[in-house]
Amino acid sequence: MLAGLDEIAGTGRDARRGGYSRHLWQGADLELRAWFTERAERLGLMVATDRNGNLWAWWGEPGPGAVVTGSHLDSVPGGGAYDGPLGVVSAFEAIGRLQASGFVPSRPVAVLVFAEEEGSRFGIACLGSRLMTGGIDADRARALVDPDGVTLAEAAVRAGVDPERLGADREALGRIGLFIELHVEQGRGLIDLGRPVAVASSILAHGRWRLTVTGQGNHAGATLMPGRRDPMVAAARAVVAVHEASSAIPGARATVGRLEVVPGGTNVIASTVHAWLDARCETDAGTRALVAAITARVEEAVGLNGCSVSVTEESWTGTVTFDHGLRECFGRELGGVPFLPTGAGHDAGVLAASVPSAMLFVRNPTGISHSPEEFAEADDCVAGIDALETLLRSLL
Ligand code: GLV
Ligand code: MN
Ligand code: MN
Ligand code: MN
Repeated sequence: MLAGLDEIAGTGRDARRGGYSRHLWQGADLELRAWFTERAERLGLMVATDRNGNLWAWWGEPGPGAVVTGSHLDSVPGGGAYDGPLGVVSAFEAIGRLQASGFVPSRPVAVLVFAEEEGSRFGIACLGSRLMTGGIDADRARALVDPDGVTLAEAAVRAGVDPERLGADREALGRIGLFIELHVEQGRGLIDLGRPVAVASSILAHGRWRLTVTGQGNHAGATLMPGRRDPMVAAARAVVAVHEASSAIPGARATVGRLEVVPGGTNVIASTVHAWLDARCETDAGTRALVAAITARVEEAVGLNGCSVSVTEESWTGTVTFDHGLRECFGRELGGVPFLPTGAGHDAGVLAASVPSAMLFVRNPTGISHSPEEFAEADDCVAGIDALETLLRSLL
């Protein structure tokens, strides 16, 4: 494992799920923020937190036109060691190499860590970049609640971030001349190509929807089977409907990875089940059509158990095509590097609507991500750092 990843390998391990659970402003995330500060200071970088809880480490005076690189340090529940941290560690490594060689940058440089990229605590992925770019309304963000009922505004206060200042941050955004996110690949593209590193071409359109399935809560022992309106059974049918509707559409991906059963007792027929849908497709229109098809199938499915369902959009990101100028530059500087699309969302994708953005992918030999089985060989991580260093030298 890369030295920097080694330093944080013990932080946020999840003994119950396996892998890592590092969630915004909670124990492991706070420890990683302290590690980030210490790591940055070892390189003589100046650390600052912006209005939305994103962390910056500046090499040189903060200012407009900066070359910014980084990723995130939070994880999905039971996630891998590389998704997010690889980009942060690689940014520090590349800057350390530039410094050691006596390189003097001609424009400001920063390492940037976005808050709540996975949306694992408050439900909205890429929350830090959406807030910065004005992609989510600040009032809506402040009212988001975590599974313990803590609002984002309350959590911000506890983390020392002023909730009144959350929201579009022109000053921070204005400093980003361009953004590069290095990331472990989350599919098999580089395995198939037999290559260690690729440049991202595009990201699928994707979003999250809440399916609220409503039935009749009742006593598990006193209620005979005929006539039950059990939303758990309806939700099970709904999950199958999601799978079947999306399997019929080439290229579509749809997942229900999280359920909340209300009230959630072994001897209680539930009254409500919340199921979260993650749906993705190549185009915006294709993804909208996918969700429409899913909605129709789910409505029909829950009706078989006398239940009803409401479908609410919680977040949306249209198809991202990464900056053509940067892609050309990367192709030139990294001679013969392959270009790959991805189905995974990233802060670089959110930023792409506002500033030139680009991504580098490092091969993941398992092809598995959002799981403890996510991996990257040390040699491939070094190839990623080599690429990032080359790009920084040419852009600075
Ligand atoms: C984030 O990793 C996502 O693509 O869901
Ligand atoms: Mn992820
Ligand atoms: Mn990630
Ligand atoms: Mn992601």
